[in-house]
Amino acid sequence: MIQFKTLFILLLALGWTLPIPVLGFTPDFKFCVATAAHQIEGGNFNSDWDRWEQTPGKIKQGHTARVATDSWNHLDEDVAHMKDLGIDLYRFSVEWAKIEPAPGQYRMDEIIRYRDLVRRLRAEGIESMVTLHHFTLPKWVADRGGWDWSGIPEAFENYVTRVTGVLGPDVSFWVTINEPMTVIAGGYVSDVFPPAKNNLGLIALPMANMLRAHARAYHAIHRALDADDFLPKVGFAHHLRNFDPARRSNPLDRYLARKFDEVFNWALPLATLDGRLRWNVPFLTRSKVFIPEAIGTQDFFGLNYYSRDRLRLTPFKAPFIQRETSRGADTTELGWELYPAGMSRLLYQIRSRFPGMEIHLTENGLADADDTQRIPFIREHLAVLEKHIRDGAPIRSYCHWTLNDNFEWAEGYTAHFGFYSMEPGTLRRIPRPSALWFGEMTRSVRQTGRIPQ
Ligand code: FCB
Repeated sequence: MIQFKTLFILLLALGWTLPIPVLGFTPDFKFCVATAAHQIEGGNFNSDWDRWEQTPGKIKQGHTARVATDSWNHLDEDVAHMKDLGIDLYRFSVEWAKIEPAPGQYRMDEIIRYRDLVRRLRAEGIESMVTLHHFTLPKWVADRGGWDWSGIPEAFENYVTRVTGVLGPDVSFWVTINEPMTVIAGGYVSDVFPPAKNNLGLIALPMANMLRAHARAYHAIHRALDADDFLPKVGFAHHLRNFDPARRSNPLDRYLARKFDEVFNWALPLATLDGRLRWNVPFLTRSKVFIPEAIGTQDFFGLNYYSRDRLRLTPFKAPFIQRETSRGADTTELGWELYPAGMSRLLYQIRSRFPGMEIHLTENGLADADDTQRIPFIREHLAVLEKHIRDGAPIRSYCHWTLNDNFEWAEGYTAHFGFYSMEPGTLRRIPRPSALWFGEMTRSVRQTGRIPQ
C-alpha cells in the first residue's frame, strides 16, 4: 500500500509540474485615477505656467488654469466619485510653486493641505501615489534657467525633503518627475511648453539636470523614510510612445523612428541602470555623461502610455519631420491613434530591459467628450495588462487619466479626458457613462480576477 508520506511527496512533485493558474488581476492589483496639481487646483500664480498662459497664442482659446477644476473646493465630491469608481490608489501631484513660492520660503499650510488629503484618502481606503514635479516650476526657478540651471538638482532636493518630511510614511509611492521627455519635447525641441527653446541641440543639459534632480530626490526620500517595516517606492513616470516609420521600408523613416525611440523613450530610463546618459543623432544632438548617483534609482517603472506616431523624414522639404497616424486608424478627439497593442510592445521592452522590476501604468487615457470610445479603450488596454500579468509580469496598478475634464496644457479646456465632465459655470461634475461602467468593472474584477465581458 502506498504510504501517506509517499503520496504527499508525489502530490507535491505533481503540483510543481502542473501549471499553477495565475489570476490576471490579483486582489492586490490597484485601480487608480491620475491628476496633476496645476491642471485641477487653480490659483497657481507663482508658477512658470501661469506666466506662460498669459502669453497670447500659447493656449487654445486663451484659456488659463487660474480656476481649473477648483479641486480644493470640490474635494468631498471628488473623493466620493473616486469611491464610486472603486479605485484603491489616487495619483496626484504636489505643487512646488505653491509650496516654495520664493527661494527657501516654505509654506507649511500648503504642505499640510496635501498631508491632510493623504490622510483623508487613507481613511477612505485609498492609497496615494504622489508626483513631485508635473510640468510646472516655480517662477523663481524658471527665472534662474529652469532645467538648465545648475542649481536645480539641489533646489529640487530641498523642496522634496520638506514635502516628504511632512507627508512621510503615509505615502507608499513617489513619482519624482512626470514625463521628463514631454518637458524636453515641448519646451526644448518645440515651443508648446515653456521655456520654448525650439532647438533640439539644447536638450542634453536639461535632461542631465532632470536625472540629477531625480537621483537626489530618490536618495533623499529613502534616507528620510526607510524603516524596518516600511520602504517607500520611488520612480519616474515615463511617457513612452511607439515610433514607427510612416513608409515601412523607407530607410530614412526607419532611421528616424529608431532615433526617436533611442532618445525619447530609452535614454533616461536606461541611465538609471548604469548612470550613463547617452545618445547620438549625428550632427544634431548627442550626449555622453556619467551620473553615478542615478544608478539604481527606480524602484518601479512608471509607464504613461497613450499612442504611437508614424514618422516621415523628408530631408529636402520643410518641416523635414512629420508625425502621422496609421492610414485608416481610429483616432481620439485630439487625433491620437488608438493603439492598445502599442502598450503591449512597450511592456515587452520594459520587461526585458528592467527584468523583475515592478511596473505601474501611471497614466493611460483619451480625449473623448462623447464617451463613445472610452469603455472599449480601457477594456482593450486592461486586456493587454491581463495578458502580461498572466505571463508573469509584475504589473501592480492601472491609473486612468483622468477623474474630471481639466486644464490640458496647450489644449486648454478643449480636450476632454475625464470620467466626469464639467458643467460650465458651476463646475458641477457630471458622470459620463464610462464612469459608471468603470465602477462596476473594478468591483467585478475584485470578485473574479477578470474583466467582465
Ligand atoms: C500626459 C500628461 C498629463 C495629461 C495627459 C493627457 O502627457 O502627463 O498631464 O495632460 O498627457
